[in-house]
Amino acid sequence: MAEAFIKPLPNHWKPDDFNLATISIDSSLLHITKTICLLESRCDNYAGYLQAIFRNRSENWKLAIHQWNIEECQHGVVLRRICELSDRGFIFNHSMAQYESLVSYHAPTGESVRGSVAAEMVSRCVVEALATTLYRVLADATADHKVRAVYSALAQDEARHYGMFLKMLNAEIRENSSIDFRARFSFALRRILELEDAQIMIASCVVAERGQGVIKGRREANWYLAKLYRLYRWEHLHYAVRMLLRVVGIRATDPIVWSATVLAWLAVKLRLVLAIVANFVVTPIQWPEYRRV
Ligand SMILES: [Fe+2]
Ligand SMILES: [Fe+2]
Repeated sequence: MAEAFIKPLPNHWKPDDFNLATISIDSSLLHITKTICLLESRCDNYAGYLQAIFRNRSENWKLAIHQWNIEECQHGVVLRRICELSDRGFIFNHSMAQYESLVSYHAPTGESVRGSVAAEMVSRCVVEALATTLYRVLADATADHKVRAVYSALAQDEARHYGMFLKMLNAEIRENSSIDFRARFSFALRRILELEDAQIMIASCVVAERGQGVIKGRREANWYLAKLYRLYRWEHLHYAVRMLLRVVGIRATDPIVWSATVLAWLAVKLRLVLAIVANFVVTPIQWPEYRRV
């Protein structure tokens, strides 16, 4: 019997389990949540792309993606609920349609855009590790215990997804292809650098209702990251680093984790300072002008 990469939890939460009446969330957190809501709501695109790549794989690969897809779609639903209840002006269908018209996801052709299944799995592990960290950051940043409960549940799911893709990566290495440390490291780093790409920044632009005109990705990234990176603390990065080291195949001993966390902390805080300076110096951003640039 083939290894199950992920097991459905019989008592896994449902979006209706959360009582989200009378929630309160500050404007920065709400903007970040709306942005992630659009990303999570593309769950079927992500799953379709991976299922096409795994079309010749055994059933356990397909079942894992199926289960993962269900959970990712639930993330989109519960985040949408938070956004709609916090801002009656947030029209999800309108924002989602605009987002999808502006940026497409990889086509489900059966070919990995990263060149191999192993590279694809490294990339997915990085995404899930960063996602669970992000939801921990958001949980720690919110004072509302109902909203915090949602972020914490999502953080747990993303950690399970990380474990699932790590198992898939290890199975791929055992059974099909080897991938050395340098390749793992470079795929992981590339995926981290993609955090500033159009997928996220256009979502941020759309939910801020400035997706009509020319979109300047770098300016949007500075605006978005100035809100987000100020929330990251040492323990969040320590948590992320432990997971990322396993993805690239490094044993997470205390000195290595500590050194890598120092580097990650410096990188995040430097990016934060650059974002703040750019927002302050380059322009006191006036969005109507921004739309017309
Ligand atoms: Fe998710
Ligand atoms: Fe996930």
